Amino acid sequence: MTDVESPQQQQQLQDQDEIKKLCFEGAWAWIIEIVFWCLVAALIMYLLRRLVEGPIYRKPNRIDGKVVIVTGCNTGIGKETAMELARRGARLYMACRDAARCEAARLEIIEKTQNTNIFNRTLDLSSLSSVRQFAERFKAEESKLDILVNNAGVMATPRKLTADGFEQQMGINHLGHFLLTNLLVDHLKSAAPSRVVVLSSAAYIFGRINQQDLMSEKNYSKFMGAYAQSKLSNILFTRKLAEILKDSKVTVNCAHPGIVRTELMRYNSCPKTWNVIKTIINVFIRSPKAGAQTPIFLALDPKLECVSGGFYYNMLRFPVLPKAKDAEMADWLWQESEKLVGLKQSITPPMKKKEEEKNSEMETVKVVARDE
Ligand SMILES: NC(=O)c1ccc[n+]([C@@H]2O[C@H](COP(=O)([O-])OP(=O)(O)OC[C@H]3O[C@@H](n4cnc5c(N)ncnc54)[C@H](OP(=O)(O)O)[C@@H]3O)[C@@H](O)[C@H]2O)c1
Repeated sequence: MTDVESPQQQQQLQDQDEIKKLCFEGAWAWIIEIVFWCLVAALIMYLLRRLVEGPIYRKPNRIDGKVVIVTGCNTGIGKETAMELARRGARLYMACRDAARCEAARLEIIEKTQNTNIFNRTLDLSSLSSVRQFAERFKAEESKLDILVNNAGVMATPRKLTADGFEQQMGINHLGHFLLTNLLVDHLKSAAPSRVVVLSSAAYIFGRINQQDLMSEKNYSKFMGAYAQSKLSNILFTRKLAEILKDSKVTVNCAHPGIVRTELMRYNSCPKTWNVIKTIINVFIRSPKAGAQTPIFLALDPKLECVSGGFYYNMLRFPVLPKAKDAEMADWLWQESEKLVGLKQSITPPMKKKEEEKNSEMETVKVVARDE
């Protein structure tokens, strides 16, 4: 054995020293590695959140003095939509069922936007008389309506009836807004070019219009049945109204806002043990501000001034399934809705007119035949 190292060994030792100089050792190495992986995780989270949040409406156009109604805007997507429209100068009517919650949101919107033209008005879509009272008061206060956002909604509630005896998801999500819009059509026409924005949902995919049991009396399924039916009704309503108003410069479009973290799930509580899972799921769910971007885009984008009857998600127009394009079903639903809400003066869908014309033609033919 000898203490003298060979030149080869010496070279090896020298190389090892060089490498040690370049690398970190001990605690520092750990810290740097942890920081590195944290940065990678943060970057992935950031990119994932950007993807989940979707696009943001960035055009700077203002709507100073334009008269706007947003239903159900004391919280969630409606509140964020109202906030942005107020920021851009709208004269905003907040149509909410709970006056105290509405007032709290109104004060917050005024504080954040410095727009004082924000009004708290009571509208309970589960009561036709409340809808009529709201519309009457609004029409006495304003001579036109530039933008109507039909946002309010409930989802997957236990079966309950509205004041007028309708199943409440169909009653609030579709029929209440149906009556409201019909009552405000003349004001929308007076402001033309004007817009109606309807909050629907991709959940319409599960829905069907149950002509035999529209109010789910025989069979009630809270999400796949009643909610999905009400959201399918929103699309049929949008398309039918767009057709009726096609020469009036009032456009009507509807939106799926994405899956958004709001109070919409309030009727469906999860067990506490789900909290961890909920936290993970939340990463893949939009903030209310992100969820409001497509409705905001539909309400504001100048390029949509003449575009009507569309279904939008992430600010893009999407095709809909055949059941949402079924014109006969849309006609049936429209006429049924008119009867249910007791509309005395119809805004006369062309189908109805055509049918009446056809009937009177047939009457004439019969009379002529009888005379001969
Ligand atoms: N969140 C989502 O993932 C999602 C997905 C697809 C579609 N949407 C649609 O987006 C719209 C907004 O939902 P959101 O998620 O923002 O829900 P949200 O946070 O629960 O807000 C719903 C709003 O509607 C109001 N409202 C409920 N019933 C009403 C009634 N009878 N009369 C008047 N206002 C009433 C609520 O008022 P109160 O606070 O007083 O109850 C609240 O202001 C709904 O139409 C929903 O179907 C949401």
